[in-house]
Amino acid sequence: MKTSSKNFSTRAIHHGYYPMDHQGALTPPLHLTSTFAFDSAEAGGEMFAGERPGYIYSRISNPTLDLLEQRIAVLEGAEAGLALASGMGAITAALWTLLSPGDEVIVDKTLYGCTFAFMRHGLSKFGITITHVDMTDPANLTPVISEKTRVVYFETPANPNMRLVDIEAISKISHASGATVVVDNTYATPYLTRPIELGADIVVHSATKYLGGHGDVVAGLLVGSAEQVSEIRMFGMKDMTGAVMAPFNAMLILRGLKTLALRMERHCENAQKVAAMLEASEGVAKVHYPGLASFEQHELALRQMPGFGAMIAFELDGGIEAGRRLMNRLTMIGRAVSLGDAESLIQHPASMTHSTYTAEERAEHGISDGLIRLSVGLEDVDDIIGDLAQALSDDAVRAAA
Ligand SMILES: Cc1ncc(COP(=O)(O)O)c(C=O)c1O
Repeated sequence: MKTSSKNFSTRAIHHGYYPMDHQGALTPPLHLTSTFAFDSAEAGGEMFAGERPGYIYSRISNPTLDLLEQRIAVLEGAEAGLALASGMGAITAALWTLLSPGDEVIVDKTLYGCTFAFMRHGLSKFGITITHVDMTDPANLTPVISEKTRVVYFETPANPNMRLVDIEAISKISHASGATVVVDNTYATPYLTRPIELGADIVVHSATKYLGGHGDVVAGLLVGSAEQVSEIRMFGMKDMTGAVMAPFNAMLILRGLKTLALRMERHCENAQKVAAMLEASEGVAKVHYPGLASFEQHELALRQMPGFGAMIAFELDGGIEAGRRLMNRLTMIGRAVSLGDAESLIQHPASMTHSTYTAEERAEHGISDGLIRLSVGLEDVDDIIGDLAQALSDDAVRAAA
């Protein structure tokens, strides 16, 4: 069903699928097939030549993935979508396609640990220059960007320290210089931010997180123009990375998307209360959450995000030792990486998700060693707050370093 004139949740539930085309099956069929038969030798040849539509092999396309690709495209307000094996699969397939030796990528100061490692240790091996710019002030980009800059890349909010980037302002500056803007929208999801509508060119996702929403799948998605997505599919995914999503995983993400709006509403509501509780707690030095009036970029958050998401970063007066003690005292909140699940999860970026940075690099890129990252889940908020409160009631957790 075409739902372009419908609202977010209706699109997430119905777009691209009409049961009567599938023997009345309410839930889309799962196409567990690696390859597709051709009607004739000529038909197969024509498909390979791009002269006839149809499916060839599931590393290129598959009907279950197709549906997911149409849904994420319509939710992000993009022309086309692509499903990949993981968020890193989406990021690497896009960048291997866009970049050549001699090009420059300008990236924000803070990136998810493995994205940082891909840039610093992967792309840079092949003659691509990686330049970090503090994009929290778009004016910082203007003196640095040049005709060598092929891609401008950032996360907003950034993992793990929650810095925001003004998508519209950065896109304008980048386009004036001919660069392609790639945004990692994992933290916000299209329910809270649609970068394409604000001028970005390509959006990448770790669908492992809120889009799947249940912590049972590793998956990636990207959206962009039909031309760009086709290039990333036929080169970055098919030939360079082979990072193809399994049809079963596409089914899990399709299921997750149906409740994305509902889950994000509750995630945001819970996180706002948890952030306020942490901010008011003895022993907590600083809380980074876009929904707090004390958040440095709160004005941008109000302008760019209709809700503030459910990721919180905070620091304790007692630094990392107090942070470890706090994590060990929790009885319900899970000590685990990943985010966006029904379960609240807590982790220590410096020793876990961002340990791909050296200590010097973390200091340079604004990831303090005492930072704790909390993914606020969908449990009853009083229970989340209760678990944090009992952990914070310990004198050693509250004590200054
Ligand atoms: C912001 C962000 N982007 C990309 C990724 C990578 O996604 P995946 O783990 O699905 O490869 C992650 C994973 O944590 C992430 O947090």
